[in-house]
Amino acid sequence: MQKIIDPWGSELVEDYVKIVKDFGLEKFNTKLFPNPSRLMRRHTVFAGRDLDIIAKCIKDKKPFYVLTGIMPSADKIHFGNKMVIEQVKYFQEHGAKTYVLVADLEAAATRGITLEEAQKRAMEFHIPAWIALGLDPKKTTFYFQSENKDVMHLAYKYAKKITLNEFRAIYGVADPSRIFAALTQAGDILYPQLKERMPGIVPVGIDQDPHLRLTRDIVRRTKAEKFFLPAGIYHKFTPSLSGKMKMSKSHPQSCVELPEDFSSVKKKIMRAVTGGRETLELHRKLGAEVEKCMVFELLKTHLVEDDKELEKIYKAYKSGKMSSGEIKQIACEKMELFLTTFTKDLKKAQKDVKKLKFIKFG
Ligand code: TRP
Repeated sequence: MQKIIDPWGSELVEDYVKIVKDFGLEKFNTKLFPNPSRLMRRHTVFAGRDLDIIAKCIKDKKPFYVLTGIMPSADKIHFGNKMVIEQVKYFQEHGAKTYVLVADLEAAATRGITLEEAQKRAMEFHIPAWIALGLDPKKTTFYFQSENKDVMHLAYKYAKKITLNEFRAIYGVADPSRIFAALTQAGDILYPQLKERMPGIVPVGIDQDPHLRLTRDIVRRTKAEKFFLPAGIYHKFTPSLSGKMKMSKSHPQSCVELPEDFSSVKKKIMRAVTGGRETLELHRKLGAEVEKCMVFELLKTHLVEDDKELEKIYKAYKSGKMSSGEIKQIACEKMELFLTTFTKDLKKAQKDVKKLKFIKFG
């Protein structure tokens, strides 16, 4: 049976090549975009849909948008979420009009928290965290799903465009709250085009592709609106430090949370699965199994910006000159620096958040 990757699961995807094929995605080409980001250069970003349209907008300085939604269901985020923010930031810096919505309705429908609670968490934590991680609030349009009537109207209209069987084929399940959430998400993704028809891109973890497929199907069926099909750009999951599943709130013991005290993250790094051999002697002789090392993965995907620096670490580790103790040490130093900066920037953003402009409706 083919495994369905759904937006609600927490499994790791082993075979990204197969996914590209099965989902009919375009393989990501690092040369497509100018000044590719760390995630693009390191092949963490591995696939997309309609990427050349967005690349052309960047090249010709034509209008396009980047959009994403924050689901404020927990009171923390983690390193997996950080990638979405970095991707949004990349497109924002390359000329995209930026939309960030708070999925308060979705949180209420699928996680059972109240709208007020969801909004409060978003204002006190999620939005400031996004700003601390690099989103420019002055260049971003924010809204709450629950306040955006246009999105609701789109969702209602789109409800007529799909059948239960199609929904099941895309998501594997079809319960009412998920149907509501998915249609609302389609409304979110297309909402910027109500004002100005233009291409848009939605950076997401591969698990969110079903939402894009659904939205693209809907656009094809509502030709009258003449919307552009939303483009998608996908990154791989960040594995947990045990290497067994993706980082997620449900396995805090091997997931780097934000915020989290350095002392607690340090313990997790110390316990992480590495590429070290059984004895130091063997390690020196055979070199590390870098592919299996979750600490190297952390450096590669999140903590080392400079390609040359990463390559140096890779070579030393692979050849056995660097031990897994040493690579953990490097990761700890970089992590401490990262967390200190994040905490400082978060505090500042928490003060500034009151000044943000949200779209007001009605
Ligand atoms: N479903 C997303 C999540 O679980 C949140 C979301 C709502 C979203 N609307 C969106 C993401 C539009 C991308 C685009 O986190």
